[in-house]
Amino acid sequence: MFYVPGIIEKKKRGLKLSKDEIQFIIEGYVSGDIPDYQVSALLMAVYFKGMNEEETTNLTMAMAYSGEVVDLSFIEGIKVDKHSTGGIADTTTLVLLPLASSVGVKVAKMSGRGLGHTGGTIDKLESISGFRCELDGEAFINAANTIGAAITGQSENLVPADKMLYALRDVTATVDSMPLIASSIMSKKIAGGADKIILDVKFGSGAFMKTYEDALHLGRLMVKIGELAGRQTVAYITDMDQPLGLAVGNAIEVIEAAETLNGRGHEDLLSLCLEFGSEMMSLAGVESDKLKAIKILKRSIEEGKALDKFKEIIANQGGNSKVLEDYSILPKAKHELEVKATKDCYVKRIDAIRLGLAAMKIGAGRQKKDDVIDPAVGVWIYKKVGEKVMNGEPFAKILANNATKLGWAANEAKGAFEFSNEMVKKRKVIWAKITKDEVCEF
Ligand code: URA
Ligand code: CA
Repeated sequence: MFYVPGIIEKKKRGLKLSKDEIQFIIEGYVSGDIPDYQVSALLMAVYFKGMNEEETTNLTMAMAYSGEVVDLSFIEGIKVDKHSTGGIADTTTLVLLPLASSVGVKVAKMSGRGLGHTGGTIDKLESISGFRCELDGEAFINAANTIGAAITGQSENLVPADKMLYALRDVTATVDSMPLIASSIMSKKIAGGADKIILDVKFGSGAFMKTYEDALHLGRLMVKIGELAGRQTVAYITDMDQPLGLAVGNAIEVIEAAETLNGRGHEDLLSLCLEFGSEMMSLAGVESDKLKAIKILKRSIEEGKALDKFKEIIANQGGNSKVLEDYSILPKAKHELEVKATKDCYVKRIDAIRLGLAAMKIGAGRQKKDDVIDPAVGVWIYKKVGEKVMNGEPFAKILANNATKLGWAANEAKGAFEFSNEMVKKRKVIWAKITKDEVCEF
């Protein structure tokens, strides 16, 4: 039996906690035996003194097994999960799900609902009428085995320790701690049951990590944890100093995904999807030669297979797949307003978080857990950093269901864009790839 103040004292002095001590705290907290105030104190001690890789892995595993653990072994093949630390206009999952499965990678995706600027992948898909995201275990496994792809909401009882700890961190100023972030993310990935994991660690104004160095640190730590937990893990460090794609919303992100699967997407979003798609093919044992894999993915887009797969996934989960041919069936906002440039110039910067928050406040995301998302609203970005805008040309469009909010959001969008008279370099999307053996900077 352990003595909780003794464990807090140890961490306060910067000493290493044992696996059993960590397990004791997590089990005790989830069962209700250890109160919030003691765990709060421990979290603050961890915030100041840190945890080494072994402690962080032990914390991750104790959290991962604090509730239900998903068994994907009934799905044939190697299951690869792609996880993003969150970004703005990040439609990657929506594109990758059909794209990867169209070339033979099994995709069994569990996804949470979004809290913050825009919805999660589930919220976006729910803008398609009829689409069901609550598949029971059998339907999920059947879909993955028969059509090669399925997406479902996260089980209520997945990693209860993370739900409790995250809520506590949120109100004790202990969210921004590397070991706590890494264990929070990785515990959910490990409990989710995937064999292999691809992490998209974003950095910049629209991301959780503000700097490249912090993202690199987090990525390396999570790869270490994944490997120590017996799951091959690859992390990418990618740009979120501007939105990734062009759509910030829910229904419009479905449109952007369809456009990308049609070969008409923005190069930034497409390049990230091709990189992740080829990495998924490699990890799943479908194609290990990267250039060949990218060729196969591009061919799937050109031949319409990727888009057909998206239709199949939607139909299989009860949705109206005609939305991919006729976007007017999707929920449509009552009001639209374009924001226009007042001189010939180049986009210098887009404050991703400001744009994301504007989209959230007009209804595209949740401020509180119980908020209801308005699928129709959001922001279309017409120009990204480095692109030229002519005097009078629109660089963004706001979609809203409330006229007052429309004007407010247009102002926010205006404020989020910075322009320059001189040419501006485009931003690099992928900055680094981390495997257990090396960090490869792009
Ligand atoms: N995302 C998570 O899931 N957990 C964190 O602690 C931070 C970001
Ligand atoms: Ca998101």
